[in-house]
Amino acid sequence: MILVVAESLSKTYATDSIEVKALREVSFDVEPGSFLAFVGPSGSGKTTLLNLIGCLDKPTGGALTVAGVDVVQLGRRQAAEFRGQTVGFIFQSFNLIPVLTAFENVEYPLVMVQELPLAERRNRVFKLLKAVGMLEQKNQLPEQLSGGQKQRVAIARALVTQPKLVLADEPTANLDHETAYMILRLMKQMRDNFGSTFIFSTHDTRIIEEAEIIYTLEDGRLLQREERGKANVQSSENRGSKLAAV
Ligand SMILES: Nc1ncnc2c1ncn2[C@@H]1O[C@H](COP(=O)(O)OP(=O)(O)O)[C@@H](O)[C@H]1O
Ligand SMILES: [Mg+2]
Repeated sequence: MILVVAESLSKTYATDSIEVKALREVSFDVEPGSFLAFVGPSGSGKTTLLNLIGCLDKPTGGALTVAGVDVVQLGRRQAAEFRGQTVGFIFQSFNLIPVLTAFENVEYPLVMVQELPLAERRNRVFKLLKAVGMLEQKNQLPEQLSGGQKQRVAIARALVTQPKLVLADEPTANLDHETAYMILRLMKQMRDNFGSTFIFSTHDTRIIEEAEIIYTLEDGRLLQREERGKANVQSSENRGSKLAAV
């Protein structure tokens, strides 16, 4: 099953006097296991698009299916439930809870999951902190961590519910180049180890190379789909060509 299918997806923000067409009839799909980037300059619609995929906002036109669910039709509560079960989020500003330790931040999304026994919960947190190389800092507060370390914790937190999809909106925007590169490599490693699909956005040309599939956005339009590495992705439908127009 294709994980994300968008057809003529549009989003227009209507403010007092003007309308902003943030997305204009965007169509694309995302295969499970992808490591995919939406790339474009500031204002091109990246955040808007990720918010739609993550069910944080609704489109004003078109169709969107995530993990087989028509997310356009979901009510508020259903959308929240769907997000909790299907999507993990990583933010450019890390968004860790300042009064919780690294361990507690990663554990936090699981606290609401009633059916999960405490021992299993703690096991999952340990496993993920280890996977992102943050076990030693598990009792530290966010303010005691560097930017790269905070984003490692955020990656562990995004994965702790075992989501099908992880959305990362400019996850490296607040990191220096070397750390940004390391975080991208770590995300890819997590995709390999845990099988979650990763969709991220960036305008940083230096880290775009790490993506296996790149969709270029400009003024709310999808200009181009580019595929590199991992040649088996979507190859069966003749989508392996390097610069297929979309
Ligand atoms: N809540 C909003 N209300 C009105 N306009 C918005 C809102 N959010 C984004 N926009 C506008 O939509 C366009 C796309 O924004 P955005 O999705 O944030 O782009 P990006 O993440 O690529 O910088 C921009 O012109 C932006 O000003
Ligand atoms: Mg943005």
